[in-house]
Amino acid sequence: MNIPPHLTHLPAYIPGESVESLAARLGRAPESILKLDANENPYGPPPAVARALAALDPSRYPDAEQRHLRTALSDYLSIPAEFLLAGNGSDELLSLLAQTLLQPGESILVCPPTFSMYAFYAQLKNCQVVSVPRRADFSLDVDGIFSAAQGHSPKIIFLDNPGNPTGFTLPAADVEKLLTLPTLIVLDEAYIEFSESPSAISRVPECENLVVLRTFSKWAGLAGLRVGYGAFPHWLGNLLWQAKSPYNLTQAAAAAVAALDERDLLRANLAKIRAERERLARALRRFQGLTVYPSAANFLLVRVDPSTFGLSAAKSARRSRNRGFSSACLSRSTACASPLAHQSRLIRCWKRWLVHLGINKC
Ligand SMILES: Cc1ncc(COP(=O)(O)O)c(C=O)c1O
Repeated sequence: MNIPPHLTHLPAYIPGESVESLAARLGRAPESILKLDANENPYGPPPAVARALAALDPSRYPDAEQRHLRTALSDYLSIPAEFLLAGNGSDELLSLLAQTLLQPGESILVCPPTFSMYAFYAQLKNCQVVSVPRRADFSLDVDGIFSAAQGHSPKIIFLDNPGNPTGFTLPAADVEKLLTLPTLIVLDEAYIEFSESPSAISRVPECENLVVLRTFSKWAGLAGLRVGYGAFPHWLGNLLWQAKSPYNLTQAAAAAVAALDERDLLRANLAKIRAERERLARALRRFQGLTVYPSAANFLLVRVDPSTFGLSAAKSARRSRNRGFSSACLSRSTACASPLAHQSRLIRCWKRWLVHLGINKC
């Protein structure tokens, strides 16, 4: 088989290991594992989701036009359903955007550290990835993006708000400025419900070059059911409807509608997650060798000083790369907005590890 040469060099995305596989590898009971590495929602979905799933008839194909979910989303977001398209997670929509818009030899622009799938899908299409790193405080280098855009004419600029792994929120003014570029801006708001900053989704109907992607995986606790969605300008939405596979959104759509019906309960969980995120940040800041960055998401980015923890620079850089971070300075991202009992266990584990390393001053 003649495999396209660019694919043979493509670094694979390494997804988080499942609890079952980790438990088997360590010879431990799955219940003893505290899984914090995929930024999931520790509270899970509201009870109505289980009822909606129990009522499904899996022998039927799902609604290819996603009518029920798009109507419910239109009510939730206050934008017309005609701008909305749902997918098998927002990941599928990222992939569909790359498949539909990019041609080999073209380029995209990303601002690392950021979600690695933007670059991955572009590289699958044999496109160049132009990087304009964020500043030390994780703010965007807007001038740098403008000059890189002039030099490389990227077809798409991918931004995440709040950022993964930074937890940093983008000022609306930065996004507005970037929208003046003759480039499609894809704003990934996978974690927006955890933040206090407004979504840009209401801007889509009036902007020809803005896409906003969202997901039920994080705030609604539906990561396993794979429901994401996006708001797209008409010219692009039409293209994507044409290109998508007919049943890309499964009957899991019913679970997402049920979750939206119980959004007050989900919002109460969001408030708890935010409070616990801050409590955990305070606890972790007391440890020597850790820098805990402010976060507007359901995780914290923690810089681990390699010398304090006896890690070689090469090893910590490799760990960063394994988690898809394009910057070697970021040693570890910990999803830790978990219930208090989980947090106490996490802190106990840190303390034990520090004692093990002989660093027990904290
Ligand atoms: C920034 C960002 N975007 C998109 C996704 C993908 O989410 P989904 O589960 O909807 O595919 C993730 C998942 O971790 C993410 O962190």
